[in-house]
Amino acid sequence: MSKDRIAGAERRRLYVVGGLCALGAGIGLAKYLTSQPQPPAGNPLSVDFGDLPPGKLRTVDWNGRTVWILRRSADDIASLAGYESELTDPASEQSLQPAACRNPHRSLRPEVFVAIGQCTHQGCPPALRSGVGNRGEFLCPCHTSKFDLAGRVFRAGPAPANLVIPEYRMEGDSRVIIGET
Ligand code: FES
Repeated sequence: MSKDRIAGAERRRLYVVGGLCALGAGIGLAKYLTSQPQPPAGNPLSVDFGDLPPGKLRTVDWNGRTVWILRRSADDIASLAGYESELTDPASEQSLQPAACRNPHRSLRPEVFVAIGQCTHQGCPPALRSGVGNRGEFLCPCHTSKFDLAGRVFRAGPAPANLVIPEYRMEGDSRVIIGET
C-alpha cells in the first residue's frame, strides 16, 4: 500500500474515533441531564457557616448527600473569569442548578458557593486545591476531571457537566438553608 493510501486510511480512522468520542460525550451528557431534570430539594438543612474563613470549605451531609459550602475570598471571586474557552459549559446552560444560580459564580451570593460535592462523571468526591496557578480548583481523583471554584467543569476531563447546585436560600449573612427556596 502506498504512503498516501496509508495516510488516508489513518486519517479516516481518526475521524471515526473522534466522531465516536463526540457521540459518546453527547449521549453521556443527555443521559445525565434527563436523569436529573431538577436541582435536588426537600428535607431542609440549616447550616451556620459564620466561623468559616474566606477560602475554606465546609462539608455537610444532607439526606445522605455531600454538600459543600465554600466561602469564596475576593481573590477567588475575581479569579472566575478569563478562561471560559477552557470550560465545557461556561454559562451553565447544560448543567443543573436553580435558575437564580445560573450566573458566572453559580450562586445566590458571589462570596458563598453551595454545591453537591460529587463529580458529574461517575460520582467520586472531588477535592479542593488552593492556589493552583493563580486560582483554586476542585480535582476529581478518579479520572482527573477538574472544576473551577464555581463548579464549572474544564473540557480536558471526562465529566460532562458542571457540579450540581441544590435548591437553597440564604438567611442573614452566614446561614444557608439547603433544600429550600
Ligand atoms: S468520577 Fe470524577 S472524573 Fe470520573
